[in-house]
Amino acid sequence: MDSKRICMIGAGRVGRLHTKSIDEHLGHQAEVTAIVDPNRELADELAADFGVREVYGSLDEALEHGSFDGVVITTPTFTHRDLAVTAIEAGLHVHLEKPMAMNVHECRDISAAAERAGIALQLGFMRRFDRDFVDAAELLRSGRVGDPMIIKSLTHGPGLPPAWANDIATSNGMLAEVNSHDLDTASWFTGSEPVQIHVQVSNFKGADRGATAEHFYDTLLAIVTFESGALASIAGVCPADYGYDARVEVTCTNGMFEVGDTGPGGLKSIVAGTHERTEAVYPSWRDRFAAAYVQEMVEFVAAMDTGQVRVGAAEGTRAVELVLAGTVSILEERPVGIHEVRDPAFDPWWQASVQKQGA
Ligand SMILES: NC(=O)c1ccc[n+]([C@@H]2O[C@H](COP(=O)([O-])OP(=O)(O)OC[C@H]3O[C@@H](n4cnc5c(N)ncnc54)[C@H](O)[C@@H]3O)[C@@H](O)[C@H]2O)c1
Repeated sequence: MDSKRICMIGAGRVGRLHTKSIDEHLGHQAEVTAIVDPNRELADELAADFGVREVYGSLDEALEHGSFDGVVITTPTFTHRDLAVTAIEAGLHVHLEKPMAMNVHECRDISAAAERAGIALQLGFMRRFDRDFVDAAELLRSGRVGDPMIIKSLTHGPGLPPAWANDIATSNGMLAEVNSHDLDTASWFTGSEPVQIHVQVSNFKGADRGATAEHFYDTLLAIVTFESGALASIAGVCPADYGYDARVEVTCTNGMFEVGDTGPGGLKSIVAGTHERTEAVYPSWRDRFAAAYVQEMVEFVAAMDTGQVRVGAAEGTRAVELVLAGTVSILEERPVGIHEVRDPAFDPWWQASVQKQGA
């Protein structure tokens, strides 16, 4: 079988991570043959580090000069719709980073294009590829622990994400950027559709870290209710400074389980007399989910032949709906039904106008 040619769109933090995974783990099955980023310096640097020969300033330029089997989209959320639709209409398979898009209209555009083209569209919810999370989902499906009653999920990120990701106008904020993963996990584990979300937020560190966007928050607590009656609480803190922390506790009708830990194990010590306790922590999401990110690329390449993805447009759209309803909840200080943001007339008024094109 010929090696799949992948165009990496975006040379930032995640573009580098996925390029490295493909370079180090896909062997002769796949190769990043081009990097696309309008930031030429960043693109050149990434290309040089991994011996990628082609560098382009835009996807259009890449499609004009290069030839690919698939693209990996790792750009800011407000660019996802246009890039995904362009790649899909060029007949390419797509791995699209979460959040799928800025709003439901954009998700629908991407889903419709993918259905028309019959390509594989995989969403970047890496927890779906993580051994512990997958084992937990299998335990639930086995019925041994019964039905989920309460899910408590938290994600705390170490440092501030890039500026575009802190502003609800350009990204839908931390609920989208950090806690999309918890929203997807809660829906996945309950196996049920969300009905309502209520989110409250705080801002502890924004002023000190220069995060000045209107409505910036670094702390959130969300309660999601599901059709099954299950309740989920989702906590988010970013920047947390102490490391990357992703943990879930699920109480079921016949038992409970926990997924995740603050660190990879190793030395845990309490030094007598000093009241000090040290424990290994994951410094970043790159460390906590290292194996899942590799598996994500392995399965994306396989999906180019099978057409089967583990997580796709339906799950991506559901998480975006929760993010939108959650943001309304923050701004209007009330619980919000998911049906409100599914209404075609719903307008996410806080988003910068350029992001609402097509809405
Ligand atoms: N799955 C995860 O664990 C995870 C972690 C972090 C970020 N993300 C997601 O990955 C995406 C990127 O995040 P990041 O942290 O790498 O951002 P980043 O800001 O570090 O990198 C984004 C890059 O995209 C480039 N870019 C902007 N517009 C472009 C365009 N039209 N074509 C090509 N390149 C363009 C920028 O110049 C920048 O270099 C976001 O959707 C984010 O939510 C996912």
